[in-house]
Amino acid sequence: MLLETEKLTRIYGGVVAINDVDFHASEGLITGLIGPNGAGKTTLFNNMTGLDVPTRGKVFFEGNDITGKSAHEISRMGIARTFQNIRLFKEMSVIENVMIGRHFKVGNKDKGRFRQALKSYFFMSREERWIYDSAMEYLEFLELGKFANDDAKSLPYGHQRELEIARALATEPKLLFLDEPAAGMNPQETEHLMETIRRIRDKGISIVLIEHDMKLVMNICDEITVLSFGQKIAEGTPEEIQNNETVIEAYLGREEED
Ligand SMILES: Nc1ncnc2c1ncn2[C@@H]1O[C@H](COP(=O)(O)OP(=O)(O)O)[C@@H](O)[C@H]1O
Ligand SMILES: [Mg+2]
Repeated sequence: MLLETEKLTRIYGGVVAINDVDFHASEGLITGLIGPNGAGKTTLFNNMTGLDVPTRGKVFFEGNDITGKSAHEISRMGIARTFQNIRLFKEMSVIENVMIGRHFKVGNKDKGRFRQALKSYFFMSREERWIYDSAMEYLEFLELGKFANDDAKSLPYGHQRELEIARALATEPKLLFLDEPAAGMNPQETEHLMETIRRIRDKGISIVLIEHDMKLVMNICDEITVLSFGQKIAEGTPEEIQNNETVIEAYLGREEED
């Protein structure tokens, strides 16, 4: 198994955000993580990617115990993620945002000099040119190449979300976590994103996807895990999940409360 948690639990004060969760993501697949608002999806992501430390339980990546490791260490091991709320360097150019992802991978030390060198490709060192060129490749893959020199903040919302994916891919992950990547996108942008996520999977990168859009989830996920009130209530294929009584009740029950 590529990634596995064992009874993963995170308690905030009195709130049990995730409770004894056994989650797994298989190599080469798109695994969906769904559940009503507040179910613990983002908390599960944070506790698998080093942004938060579980109260108890374990996380294994490629058989190695990564519980409690820092986000940086986990990133170096081959896990990348995007966030529910866009976290771009809005004042920087599109390509610089990707180069930062690339940069972390290379572990370069001198960021100030690097930023200056960017002004002229001619003055870049061989390593910097390589970072620039490969950042460009990720932008082209996401079909954002023509925006390379624009400010990140000037991109339409849907493209900003894709830029975050380009940046995450630039760390060359084996496993990519996407936290509601289609949030706020219009139907065309969502359709395009679905295609992009498939293309990433086809590159051999495994994906875990938190998503509210059921059409998207059911269409592209190979396996789905369902959380409700911090607990795993189901896992299986899209067909199995769609017909699961417990899942249907969990969603309907919450809707009545709203
Ligand atoms: N840092 C935190 N401090 C306190 N409570 C938190 C924190 N993060 C999440 N929670 C709580 O944990 C529960 C799960 O939240 P979250 O993981 O964001 O759910 P989801 O992503 O499924 O909507 C919620 O009740 C939320 O209020
Ligand atoms: Mg969330």
